[in-house]
Amino acid sequence: MTPIYPPEPFRIKVVESIHLISREEREAALKEAGYNLFLMKAEDMFVDLLTDSGTGAMSSEQWAAIMRGDESYAGARSYYRLKNAVDDVFGFKHFLPTHQGRAAENILAAVLVKPGQWVPSNMHFDTTDANIRARQGRPANLVIDEAHDPENRHPFKGNMDIAKLKAFIAKYGREQIPFGMITVTNNAGGGQPVSMENLKAVADVYHQNGIPFFIDAARYAENCFFIKQREPGFELKSVKEIAHEMFSLADGMTMSAKKDAIVNIGGLLCLNDDTLFQNLKNELILREGFPTYGGLAGRDLDAMAVGLYEGLDEDYLAYRIGQTAYLAARLNEAGIPTLQPTGGHGVYVNAGAIFPHIPNYEFPAQALGVELYREGGIRGVEIGSVMFACLDPQDNKWHYPALELLRLAIPRRTYTQSHLDYVADCFAAIKSRANTVKGYRFTYAPELLRHFTARFEPL
Ligand code: F0G
Repeated sequence: MTPIYPPEPFRIKVVESIHLISREEREAALKEAGYNLFLMKAEDMFVDLLTDSGTGAMSSEQWAAIMRGDESYAGARSYYRLKNAVDDVFGFKHFLPTHQGRAAENILAAVLVKPGQWVPSNMHFDTTDANIRARQGRPANLVIDEAHDPENRHPFKGNMDIAKLKAFIAKYGREQIPFGMITVTNNAGGGQPVSMENLKAVADVYHQNGIPFFIDAARYAENCFFIKQREPGFELKSVKEIAHEMFSLADGMTMSAKKDAIVNIGGLLCLNDDTLFQNLKNELILREGFPTYGGLAGRDLDAMAVGLYEGLDEDYLAYRIGQTAYLAARLNEAGIPTLQPTGGHGVYVNAGAIFPHIPNYEFPAQALGVELYREGGIRGVEIGSVMFACLDPQDNKWHYPALELLRLAIPRRTYTQSHLDYVADCFAAIKSRANTVKGYRFTYAPELLRHFTARFEPL
């Protein structure tokens, strides 16, 4: 049964026009962009589900806060307003603003990671992975096995495998692990939450080994809401209380504020250790800016200070998680398989199952992304072989990811039920002609992060 679409807990004060260009125009735009949705113009999109990062709608309170922005270089009022909110929500001793999440990751990795060292997590997001590698470090993903099965309905599929973590530390030694992480929710694994029980166990293992524990908190509020809904003992706690409990387990956090702080730009780095804070601060001054603005304008800090509270609002979270569940249910009813259970920020469509006739080296999720744009001017993002297949230098063979997914990320407070119904209807139309859809081949592919700039032609 389709869950009821939750009425939006807001009304609309400002609108931005969107327009569906004609089928011929869409076909021409696809061709011009080499069938890469990253190379297309936002103007040519009708419903843009490329990412939920920085694409949400700010509230009237946030826009009012923007006008209060204090643009002083040092010690701005905006900084202190953000500091009050960050201290209240996360409770760490120190904090630094950064221009986005990857900037916080860069600064942390620059100061802590030495060549050859390991940083474990449930699953690192690709920027975290890349920032560790950029320092010649080695990221490791130790999520539970259930995470790799798209049908498995484990309620906390983002959990770390504690036995794997213990064995990992025993194998490489605590000296080779400058810090450990966990991502909440686990974006790379489908926006799946981590339970409080698991967070406690992870914190215990790290701390017993003297390893500092950092949380990638991009979607922490969605994770805390899932804990409230799914984990026994948390039903009566507020999401803010759950968040306090979560962050009290850690030594620090990085955050892309473009997600659960509902801003268009911004990030955070928080921690307790005094000496480490001094070192991070010096690196921040070099890379981002003075510690009271960290690469942002004063007005951005103010928007974040307000957005942090709005992201924790439980009416908002019930609507947000309900909206994602609604889209997934509509798709499933139309016979479109999606990763189960539905995550927080988006729906991950199993393209490999829709196009079983397209082998992974002809990119089924890429084909689905193109088809979705062709059908309805909708943009998703390929999370499959275009993004992750790699040539192993040892055996000179291509290794393909287990799943070929198309992620439909839902920007916060931006689209309504009718937009999502439209998306589901477009998928139904694609399904009815699925066996006629063909794969793609590269006409250009860079060596690294090739999904961003590659070009394709249809087979
Ligand atoms: N961590 C997670 C879990 C993320 O999802 C992202 C970004 C980052 C860190 C990096 O933050 O973009 O502010 O530098 N995810 C976006 C996405 C890009 O589309 O999922 P950033």
